[in-house]
Amino acid sequence: MLELKNITFNAEDEGQSIGIVRDVSLTVEDNKFVVITGPNGGGKSTLAKIVAGIIKNTSGQIFFDGEDITEKSITERARMGIGFAFQQPVRFKGMTVLDILRIAAGRTLSVSEACDYLSEVGLCAKDYIDREINASLSGGELKRIEIATVLARDVKLALFDEPEAGIDLWSFNNLIRIFENMRKDRHGRSIIVISHQERILNIADEIVVIADGKIAKQGSRDIILPEITGTENATNICHKMV
Ligand SMILES: Nc1ncnc2c1ncn2[C@@H]1O[C@H](COP(=O)(O)OP(=O)(O)O)[C@@H](O)[C@H]1O
Ligand SMILES: [Mg+2]
Repeated sequence: MLELKNITFNAEDEGQSIGIVRDVSLTVEDNKFVVITGPNGGGKSTLAKIVAGIIKNTSGQIFFDGEDITEKSITERARMGIGFAFQQPVRFKGMTVLDILRIAAGRTLSVSEACDYLSEVGLCAKDYIDREINASLSGGELKRIEIATVLARDVKLALFDEPEAGIDLWSFNNLIRIFENMRKDRHGRSIIVISHQERILNIADEIVVIADGKIAKQGSRDIILPEITGTENATNICHKMV
């Protein structure tokens, strides 16, 4: 279970302190599929990076399975079972796709196991397994490889920041299938996906809307989804994939 208690993050802008995340308290129970949505610039990615330990919150506390992880590093949090897929994936120079899948899994995955993860994200595994993670990979390919690394890890909490970004429609359908499968096959794992996509919102147990650094709405999908899709502002929150 993940518990965020009064999380704030302030950034310095020309000598002035601005509140990017403002007093966010949120509990994600085990086995839950939570989708965080809301307008661009609302603070969603910042919050995800705070949970993963990539940036340090200014105040507030983070608990994971009852333990205070506020002061723990990215590596310690990763070891505890928090997995994160970035909105803008990182390119690891000099490593192959197989290397990073093995690092993610924390063991010597066989080539055939690695191929299964790549196939799951819609990549023809044999074309990718020995590819180097460099500029020759498109943003969409990199994104899918990164999702495969989270699948390869046995995480307790999986965090995906806009997995749909830069992905074509065919892969998008595939991506929805991945999330549907993760949802069916949770084994106590919780999943947080930051997304604007209605099809991802549609499979959420809970939806959290973050705007202007704060939680604007929060609740079960059945209650929140009609509120955010049936309004004039819907296009600001949900983009239908055409
Ligand atoms: N370190 C920082 N310094 C200044 N501004 C920041 C910093 N990090 C994020 N921001 C700003 O905070 C706002 C929220 O960003 P972000 O978390 O990426 O939002 P979202 O993911 O919801 O689109 C944006 O306006 C962004 O430019
Ligand atoms: Mg973002």
